[in-house]
Amino acid sequence: MPAIVLVGAQWGDEGKGKATDLLGRDVDYVVKFNGGNNAGHTIVIDDEKYALHLLPSGILSPDCTPVIGNGVVVDLEVLFEELDALQARGVDTSRLLVSASAHIIPPYNRVLDKVNERFLGKRKIGTTGRGIGPTYADKMSRTGIRVQDLFDEHILLQKVEAALGFKNQVLSKIYNRRAIDVDEVMAELLRHADRLRPMVADTSLVLEQALNDGKNVLLEAGQATLLDVDHGTYPFVTSSSATAGGACTGSGIPPTRVSTVIAILKAYSTRVGEGPFPTELDDDNGEFLRKAGHEYGTTTGRPRRCGWLDTVVGRYATRINGTTDFVITKLDVLTGLEKVPVCVAYDVEGVRHDEMPVNQSDFHHAKPVYEELEGWWEDISGCRTFEELPEAAQRYVLRVEELIGARVSAIGVGPGRDEIISRFPLLGD
Ligand code: GDP
Ligand code: IMO
Ligand code: MG
Repeated sequence: MPAIVLVGAQWGDEGKGKATDLLGRDVDYVVKFNGGNNAGHTIVIDDEKYALHLLPSGILSPDCTPVIGNGVVVDLEVLFEELDALQARGVDTSRLLVSASAHIIPPYNRVLDKVNERFLGKRKIGTTGRGIGPTYADKMSRTGIRVQDLFDEHILLQKVEAALGFKNQVLSKIYNRRAIDVDEVMAELLRHADRLRPMVADTSLVLEQALNDGKNVLLEAGQATLLDVDHGTYPFVTSSSATAGGACTGSGIPPTRVSTVIAILKAYSTRVGEGPFPTELDDDNGEFLRKAGHEYGTTTGRPRRCGWLDTVVGRYATRINGTTDFVITKLDVLTGLEKVPVCVAYDVEGVRHDEMPVNQSDFHHAKPVYEELEGWWEDISGCRTFEELPEAAQRYVLRVEELIGARVSAIGVGPGRDEIISRFPLLGD
């Protein structure tokens, strides 16, 4: 049986959480493979709204085992806060598995994330301030703390001392901040060790056995293609591999097991934090999208930057992820516009680019080339088949499908769990 990968096609917040939750009802495992509590997924079930950060969205499906893969960075405080909050609302969280090889976000990296940003001044990235970047940097520098280290206090102390030996120099001598005490860090890390222990597993092995037993495994990305550390708008990216390739390294499932790659594409574009964004709108249209789409960050509450759909980005997401199926979300938000512009190419100082410019400076200077599609006025939130959509909305989807180069298998028409049109089955027939 296959593994299925689900990624964001743009700059995040496309509605991955809702799509994962939808598929979570039909899969046996949902694995989060990258990122940490920088993610924010809102899921609406009946009248209940859930905001998940660190936990895989599959946690809300009773028959599904949620897994935090080795590619994730785990803030223990956040993990248990989220678990407690869900348990208080009657959600059974007992099946959660956490990879023994996932890295922990130690308290000093939360501090460093914030002071690094302040130090960068107007060159800042606009991070979520959760310690994500410094923790992935430690992982690559081989000075990180892993989940398994919590269960060997001697080793843990050695690692924390080694990390703080360097970081305290940076904090005190470069940033003029108070040095962090080893004992405080040890106490925070060990506080949750006993509660965590029963959840910890060799998740790569568990998933291989599940696949061998014919189970369905969904690999869920945090962030998105253009925030990927390799393929995104570097340096204005997150510090992990958010594209389909990252699903394998971040879970321990080999590429030969993956049959389907689903990319989630919002019917317009948004971005949180700094960095280039060719179709960004600073006018009434941008405000319209922000209001109609409720575009405020789930994690930080920041207003999201809004713009028209960029199909150069969509095509890039098809190429980089090997996308087999798209889910277009939030089509309902475009209702009420006379014309809906869609970016089909860029103009960079008089030269047309049909693909993402390889040079980052060109991308910064890219001016969108728009094609104007006809809008629609009808409320589409009740539509459940493609044919029920107004003709102009159907034409919008079909034209986007042509431009991005992979089939659109589902269309979101509202935030609710069932506000979706299924065109082609995402999990095979
Ligand atoms: P994620 O980070 O990709 O999971 O996305 P977020 O949860 O941060 O942002 C997506 C927002 O759009 C959430 O508030 C969802 O409830 C909402 N949403 C998802 N799909 C749709 C849709 O088809 N229509 C509308 N109106 N809202 C949607
Ligand atoms: P989901 O999973 C949107 C952005 C931050 C910042 C950059 C780096 O909900 O789609 P970081 O804290 O990761 O070092 O910040 O990445 N960012 C997101 N933007 N959605 C997200 O997650 C994001 N996670 C990080 O705003 O620009
Ligand atoms: Mg989000």
